Amino acid sequence: MAEVVRDRWGDHVVMARGERIDARPLPALVAVAEDGDERVGLLTYRVDSNSLEIVTIDAFERGRGIGSALLGGVIELARMEGVWRVWLITTNDNLDAVAFYLRRGMRLVSVHQNAASWSRQVKPSIAETGHHGITVEDELELELLIYP
Ligand SMILES: CC(C)(COP(=O)(O)OP(=O)(O)OC[C@H]1O[C@@H](n2cnc3c(N)ncnc32)[C@H](O)[C@@H]1OP(=O)(O)O)[C@@H](O)C(=O)NCCC(=O)NCCS
Repeated sequence: MAEVVRDRWGDHVVMARGERIDARPLPALVAVAEDGDERVGLLTYRVDSNSLEIVTIDAFERGRGIGSALLGGVIELARMEGVWRVWLITTNDNLDAVAFYLRRGMRLVSVHQNAASWSRQVKPSIAETGHHGITVEDELELELLIYP
């Protein structure tokens, strides 16, 4: 798990809203292929009294339903934990991921201006220029409210 996070996020530490989050001790969901035991995706998360935060989500191959399965699984878990909010932070360039979340009912609730630029001071491996040639500077907060 640590290797996967390091490979895909450049470090086992990920940044969100100025906080260094070590993904290694976090609980996780692992997606496994239906036709074997191959691991095809990983989602790490943490839970507090009201909410479940998705810290990382990765489909090792895109467009095969792995991200949807992980998101569905964690929402089910949030219901079992009795929390009312599932949320996450992503960077302002990650528009494909934002579209993926919005299509699945999540809402964009905040733009944390310059949060990614501040995070870069702690984690210099955060790229200056990200997807679609967009300057990586803000963090976007998305959430899904869960009703009983
Ligand atoms: C964002 C991410 C997790 C989405 O995962 P994914 O597995 O590609 O997503 P899915 O396959 O479930 O859904 C993507 C599309 O593929 C389609 N799809 C689902 N199952 C499919 C299948 N079996 N075959 C082909 N396409 C399929 C879905 O309909 C969906 O299209 P839609 O959004 O228009 O409805 C993935 O792109 C990823 O790992 N990105 C890199 C890491 C990242 O940016 N993480 C988010 C940071 S917060």
